[in-house]
Amino acid sequence: MSVLVTGGAGFIGSVVADQLRAHGEQVVIIDDLSRGHREVVDSDVPFYQAAVGDTEAVARIVEEQEVDSCVHFAGLIAVGESVAKPALYWQRNVAESISLFETLSNLGVENAVFSSSAAVYGDPIEVPIPENHPKAPTSPYGNTKLVVEMVLEDLSAAGRLQAVSLRYFNAAGATDLRRERHDPETHLIPLALRAARQGTPMMVFGSDWPTPDGTAVRDYIHVSDLASAHVRAIDYLRGGGATTALNLGVGHGASVREVLTTAEAVTGMPIDAVDSPRRSGDPAILVATCDRAGSVLDWSPQTTDLGDIIESAWRWESSGPPSPEG
Ligand code: UFG
Repeated sequence: MSVLVTGGAGFIGSVVADQLRAHGEQVVIIDDLSRGHREVVDSDVPFYQAAVGDTEAVARIVEEQEVDSCVHFAGLIAVGESVAKPALYWQRNVAESISLFETLSNLGVENAVFSSSAAVYGDPIEVPIPENHPKAPTSPYGNTKLVVEMVLEDLSAAGRLQAVSLRYFNAAGATDLRRERHDPETHLIPLALRAARQGTPMMVFGSDWPTPDGTAVRDYIHVSDLASAHVRAIDYLRGGGATTALNLGVGHGASVREVLTTAEAVTGMPIDAVDSPRRSGDPAILVATCDRAGSVLDWSPQTTDLGDIIESAWRWESSGPPSPEG
């Protein structure tokens, strides 16, 4: 039996592959390398360079590797890009996911873990956000994540598979082996560390939000904690667990200003923060309630201190050459 990790050449996918293997699982990776990096796939892991919408490739992998479960990361993740290229997002995130799950369930692969997002909620009307909060995505990216969750619920109701959709809040940090690499980088923590290291200015998108210090608040969760929830979700599904959707965060937030102050403390370097206009589509506050993930998966985040999360990313940023996109 093996677990198919789609998008396993990406950041979170590669950390999940590492943890699944440490948990004793056979892992096989499919990634079209349009955004992933071949070198993060360990040489002893079966790797197929193909799109998840490639029905023949997926069927071949399931048969060759005796796949019984799938963790589905492959997809596009940039909110801004999704606004500019909605059809691309619907094609890659929705059409290809439907094809993947249809192929898998036809071949008897009935356990699916899906990489979803807090973006399904849109602007929250209640914080912290429970899973039954109304869903009103504010971007095509969020729409695509919500629709795939709905597809999984319908497939589940039809008895085709069981699925856990994991709604990530702000994935952050790094492991000893893996770090975040996006091109272009848009995420706050990597940009803050780069600004500290290079002495370049850092834009703060909005200082007039209805939050204690006027900057936007997010729930930053360490990538290792995100990953461990996926490993538990596979065990849960194999044990007969029912289809569900779960938030993954730490349950408390930090403002942009707090992130920058903490990054200054971790790096020992000043950050030149420049107040800038709000970024379009950003909500003021996104903080999760994580009790359901705790009770359903017997999971809790281990690295809840923002300084520790930033420190884990700084170990890479401070020791290596400037990141390729930097
Ligand atoms: N920010 C800045 N300056 C920057 C970059 C970011 O002030 O240079 C701010 C943003 O405006 C936001 C906060 O820092 O308020 C965090 O921004 P990120 O880009 O790091 O993360 P987001 O909260 O925008 O995005 C995350 C995920 C998305 C997901 C979204 C909503 O990365 O995939 O949460 O759930 F869609």
